[in-house]
This record gives sequence, C-alpha cells and structure tokens, in this order.
Amino acid sequence: MTAAVAQGLAATTAQPAGSPASIRVRGLSKRFGTLEVFRGVDFDLGEREIVTIVGPSGCGKTTLLRCIDGLLSVDEGEIWCGRERVTEPIAGMAMVFQNFGLFPWKTVYDNVAYGLRMAGATAAQIAEQVPRFIKLVGLGGFEQAYPYQMSGGMQQRCGLARALAVQPNVLLMDEPFASVDAQTREILQFELLRIWEARPTSMIFVTHSIEEAVLMGDRVFVLKGRPSNIQNVITVDLPHPRTRETLREARFAELRELVWSTLMIEAREAEFHLGS
Ligand SMILES: Nc1ncnc2c1ncn2[C@@H]1O[C@H](COP(=O)(O)OP(=O)(O)OP(=O)(O)O)[C@@H](O)[C@H]1O
Ligand SMILES: [Mg+2]
Repeated sequence: MTAAVAQGLAATTAQPAGSPASIRVRGLSKRFGTLEVFRGVDFDLGEREIVTIVGPSGCGKTTLLRCIDGLLSVDEGEIWCGRERVTEPIAGMAMVFQNFGLFPWKTVYDNVAYGLRMAGATAAQIAEQVPRFIKLVGLGGFEQAYPYQMSGGMQQRCGLARALAVQPNVLLMDEPFASVDAQTREILQFELLRIWEARPTSMIFVTHSIEEAVLMGDRVFVLKGRPSNIQNVITVDLPHPRTRETLREARFAELRELVWSTLMIEAREAEFHLGS
C-alpha cells in the first residue's frame, strides 16, 4: 500500500469535515421478518456533500435509501433531515430508483410533472419547470413519449428529471446509471456533476461501479456484513469540479484501488466460506 493510499484510509471518518449535517442517521436497524438487513448504522451527510455507497448485492443499499426516504419504516434508530425527523416521505428529498420507477401509463411530461404535483407545485410552476428539467437532462422533444417508447438511458434521464424538478435539498440515487451503456453512463455522470456544480445538493449515490463511486463521491461508504453496516469510509480528496481529466489523475487510480481492495476482502472471505 502506498503512503498516499494509506493517507486516504487514515482520513476515513463517518463525519463530514466542517459542514453542518443535512442528514443524520443514528443507530438505524432494519429487519424483514427474521432477516436482519443492517444494524446500528450511523452517519452524517453534509450539506452539498455527495456520499457514494458500494457493497455486495443484497447487503441492504436499496433498503437503506428507502428508509432514509421515509418509504420504509425502521426497526430501531432515527433519521433526521435538518430539524425534521423522517418517518414518511418529506418535501425536500427526492429519489431516483434502481429500476427507473416511472409510471408506464404517463408520458415523460406527466412523469416529471408528477413529482412537482406531489410536492404541491402550482400549475404555473409545473408549466415552467417541467420543460426546463426535461431539456436539462437532454430529453427535449420527447415530452409526449411513453416509457415503453424509450431506451433504458432515456428512461433513466426521465427519472432524473423527475427527481431534479422538485429541486430537492437531498437527492437519493439508487444505481441511477446501472441500466445504460458505458458511453451513456459516462455522459450522464458528467451531466449530473455539471448539474450538481450549478446547484449543489446533498446526495447519497448507490453504485456497483468502484470508478463511479470515486468519481462522484466526496466520501465512499463501504456497506457490508450480515447484518450489514458501514465498515469503511474512504475520503475522496479529489478537487471539484470533477471532469474527464479527473479519471486520469494518479490519485483517482489510488483511491479506486483502495475501494477495490476494501471490497475484495469481503469477496475473498465469501469465497473462502463457499470453499470450506
Ligand atoms: N420488501 C422486502 N421484503 C423482504 N425482504 C426484502 C425486501 N426488500 C429487500 N429484502 C431483502 O433485504 C436484503 C437487502 O436487499 P436490498 O435490495 O436492500 O439489497 P441491495 O444492497 O440494494 O442489493 P443490489 O445491489 O442487488 O441492488 C436482501 O436480502 C433482500 O432479499
Ligand atoms: Mg439495490
């Protein structure tokens, strides 16, 4: 392990440096019947901070996001968004779902308008904001298309527009680019970073891509174990704005290696148990 990589590990912390917390999670546990998904999860998410979460399939990443969004009840612990305790979906938080989460019977326009309508926007606000955000994600001209008429990448853009249109303070993203091809994924990553630079929000971003976790995140949380917990926190000390140049930086490669080796410890242990 190089000194710089070791420095990344030493800098790990569950608290963001010097920024007020916009999300506070304390002692969170979730069970489905006898299955204990995670236990005692604690972290703070700072204002304008992006935390990425990686971890093996089934470790509870989606469940954790759904709890934070107030869509699922928790068994123990508390979630706070600013001064508000989250026990149900609240204004100011928006989620982009793993499987797009679009209404198949609604057009792009109506899918994007839905989020705003739920947030209590007036007809005038909807008429102004919906076309703006559809254009922002590059779906201009597809306002009247239905999800089945669009590619996976286009549906994902629609899900993104719906979440962004409510101009949330906290954006929860569940593998938002998993279903698109590599080129579209890269385009969407940098578009999202550009949108974030223009209006920074707090973001929790779940991904299976280590590269994406490092590119997008200010910190990377590694969720693992049974029940799972945040076992490692890796501070990504790469400057903003992140661009394609970032991908070529030596520090980027070091951090990617660090996240990869942290995850591989778990994968090797699982292999050992399978073989024994
Ligand atoms: N509604 C539910 N009822 C019962 N069990 C559930 C439910 N939702 C999820 N689970 C279980 O909880 C565990 C965590 O699921 P979750 O979808 O959160 O994993 P994940 O980390 O998001 O996985 P992936 O990377 O594959 O998306 C899994 O064992 C899953 O089977
Ligand atoms: Mg998931």
